[in-house]
Amino acid sequence: LSSPKMEHSSRQELEVIHEIPLYRPFVEKWAQVESFQARPDDLLISTYPKSGTTWISEIVDMIYNNGDEEKCKRDAIFNRVPFMEMSCPGLLSGTEQLDTVPSHRVYTITHLPVQLLPVSFWEQDCKMIYLARNAKDVAVSYYHFYQMAKMHPDPGTWDEFLGKFMAGKVAYGSWYDHVKGWWEKKKAYRILYMFYEDMKKDPKREIEKVLQFLGKDLKEEVVNKILHHTSFQEMKKNPTANYEMMPTWAMDHSVSPFMRKGMSGDWKNYFTVAQNEIFDAHYKEQMKGSTFKCQMEI
Ligand code: A3P
Repeated sequence: LSSPKMEHSSRQELEVIHEIPLYRPFVEKWAQVESFQARPDDLLISTYPKSGTTWISEIVDMIYNNGDEEKCKRDAIFNRVPFMEMSCPGLLSGTEQLDTVPSHRVYTITHLPVQLLPVSFWEQDCKMIYLARNAKDVAVSYYHFYQMAKMHPDPGTWDEFLGKFMAGKVAYGSWYDHVKGWWEKKKAYRILYMFYEDMKKDPKREIEKVLQFLGKDLKEEVVNKILHHTSFQEMKKNPTANYEMMPTWAMDHSVSPFMRKGMSGDWKNYFTVAQNEIFDAHYKEQMKGSTFKCQMEI
């Protein structure tokens, strides 16, 4: 994993593909993503980055393993739940992982906006779980992630980063377009649209929604086990869930841990009054005409 070639490739500028800024190695393997053949029983977990992808992935893996914690510790989360568009020199790409390890092929994650999702997912009418988180907490979480995860360009100051986030000039582009795009798609496809804030408020109810969506029926004690195992405190100390199994050159937890705070409303510790006013006005403009609603705190 720690080949010098890969260390060298850290902190690269993003490339733009179909108007969306993305990591260069992902763009280089784009043809594989575009032609990926989803199967009708593939479950897709989709999120804008920093919206709770790891949290919902751990929940889904626990559900499919009937609440068996030991089975869910078989490997790091990024191997248990392949990242579809991922590509990194020297490693199997996400699509290669999905194609060559059929037994693992139950679920996959993506951060792609709807217009970039391989068409086979729509053609196969796959079940999809979309998890959204309020834009302000996502911006703060993303700022910290940019600092610790070295595949990102330098984030600059918080103010500079916030400007880039609002302009959609970050990896995966505009948060606004992402959440709206998936919100529209749920009208016509099998998409369970969830919110991070709801999961914070009542995680048990949200886990039950997932169970129902997947057509699974688990005993209450199993649901309680899932609830416990996927709490922020448990996941933070679980090396197979907290990304500490990533090499340090790729993610440096001493800069900022992957499991950072796991709360709603942390943005209040970062946004100045002026930034907040500008953000709110811009938000209103961006979300005009959409019925999407999200709580900024709980
Ligand atoms: P913070 O940086 O705000 O703490 P993703 O997995 O999409 O990259 O999202 C990471 C964010 O989800 C981080 O947010 C992380 O702490 C938070 N997170 C991960 N597991 C969580 C859990 N079990 N409960 C609450 N938040 C969690």
